[in-house]
Amino acid sequence: MAKVSIIMVCLGNICRSPLAEGILQTKLNSEIATVTSAGTGNWHIGEHPDKRAIKIAKKHAIDISNKKAKQFQINDFDTFDYIYVMDKTNYQDIIALARNQQDKDKVHLLLNQIYPNQQKEVPDPYYGGENGFKKVYDLLDAACETITSKIQLNQQQND
Ligand code: 4NP
Repeated sequence: MAKVSIIMVCLGNICRSPLAEGILQTKLNSEIATVTSAGTGNWHIGEHPDKRAIKIAKKHAIDISNKKAKQFQINDFDTFDYIYVMDKTNYQDIIALARNQQDKDKVHLLLNQIYPNQQKEVPDPYYGGENGFKKVYDLLDAACETITSKIQLNQQQND
């Protein structure tokens, strides 16, 4: 089976999406999937993840400290098979960039993986305390586990 490519998207690319990237990268062998992340906004381009995101990842033995924020680009629609967004605003912002239906079909709310068709959002933890990051971590971990199972199942069926 061809390698699957996935991009996780949030607003700033310093809290939720780099965490999601790190979690999914840890679950999936890099021979099976390419995983990265981006933000819809440009404020934090080039910055490392928020200290609180680095800390909660480290607690789970995941190192995201070297990641650098980037902004979602139109040609990411060509590069990636799956575009997972954290909230409805991200969804609308990415859909607004789509050039055609094929682009739109790649965009999914991440939490629909664990709460199908419920349009739930990964809350933005930026202005909250550390507890917000723990909650976000647990949601991202559950969603990434589901993605991992689906990809591995697909792979076995195609072997
Ligand atoms: P993220 O969190 O979208 O999960 O990376 C945010 C980071 C920065 C801002 C908002 C959310 N900000 O307003 O700068």
